[in-house]
Amino acid sequence: MQIGGVPYRTIWPAADGSAILVIDQTKLPFAFETCRLTTLDEAAHAIRSMIVRGAPLIGATAAWGVALAMRVDASDAALAHAITELGATRPTAVNLHWALERVETLLRPLAAPQRSQAAWNAAIAICDEDAATCRAIGEHGLPLLREAFKRKNGGPLNILTHCNAGWLACVDYGTALAPIYLAHDAGIDVHVFVDETRPRNQGASLTAYELGAHGVPHTIIADNAGGHLMQHGQVDLCIVGSDRTTARGDVANKIGTYLKALAAFDNKVPFYVALPFSTIDWSLGDGVAGIPIEERSAREVTHMSGLSDNGDMTTVRIAAPGSTAANPGFDVTPARLVTALITERGVTPATQAGLAALYPQRTRQS
Ligand code: MRU
Repeated sequence: MQIGGVPYRTIWPAADGSAILVIDQTKLPFAFETCRLTTLDEAAHAIRSMIVRGAPLIGATAAWGVALAMRVDASDAALAHAITELGATRPTAVNLHWALERVETLLRPLAAPQRSQAAWNAAIAICDEDAATCRAIGEHGLPLLREAFKRKNGGPLNILTHCNAGWLACVDYGTALAPIYLAHDAGIDVHVFVDETRPRNQGASLTAYELGAHGVPHTIIADNAGGHLMQHGQVDLCIVGSDRTTARGDVANKIGTYLKALAAFDNKVPFYVALPFSTIDWSLGDGVAGIPIEERSAREVTHMSGLSDNGDMTTVRIAAPGSTAANPGFDVTPARLVTALITERGVTPATQAGLAALYPQRTRQS
């Protein structure tokens, strides 16, 4: 996608191969800065500190982390260490483990001297595939938006999204936002309600930033506003991304997604989840029982950061002094609340049979 007329991906190798470059998402929306990753530790830090975030991008960064590690030491021990370090960075998005398993399976049988180049090539392939996959998700989701727009017969198609499942969360295009970009580019009058997504505000800071850069009309709303808007017929459909989708279609996504799905269900608003193959955890059925939910720092709840009127980044406490806070980073939306899953292979009901039909080779964990 483009920023200021310049095409960008979220992660790419430097032209001279000396580093991996990423967009520093902790600085957005106030500054567009890139960050150089040159070591395994820097890649792991970028994921942990959320310089990069979003399930597919976490996976891509992990693949590059292994490639950076293999440049220094391509022994079995170094490979195992890299996989363990990167695998421990964030617990919920299964794309991380998908990417690490893919790279490890490729590298393990190779002799050490071959591993560095093979890991580099694998990271490039994972990034290219992610971009193509997200584009395909957009193409499969576009007809749903086109039909909904036709049915509406006038006025913008109002779409609600939660967190950031756009190109900043992936290598390019995004998952939930990919159909929206394609619809906008096709001349369909779309308008997006962007949940601010407390506590880290990925909606207000990242989704609004990228929709704005692409010229997509949008309105940031407080997280608690979605139910009210749905009750009053102001939301035509919801599309969110996913960090882990189980074999039966339960969906983990940013905290607050479940409440939006409940409100959508109660108001008969279609609730779509867009995801790539790499987000499916074939080993799990019951997402509520099985998906590990990241518990993040209480400080993200008790404090807020932003740009002060004099242009400085500032952090202030908003909670009562002395009060503690809990901060689960994700929640699980049961499949019964999901209208359909939009994948790179097509649109399917959120059911075991639906996913198995789309991915016949992967109904069991390999
Ligand atoms: O904590 P984050 O910012 O990594 O969470 C991101 C999300 O929850 C996204 O909705 C999800 O990764 C879908 S990515 C296309």
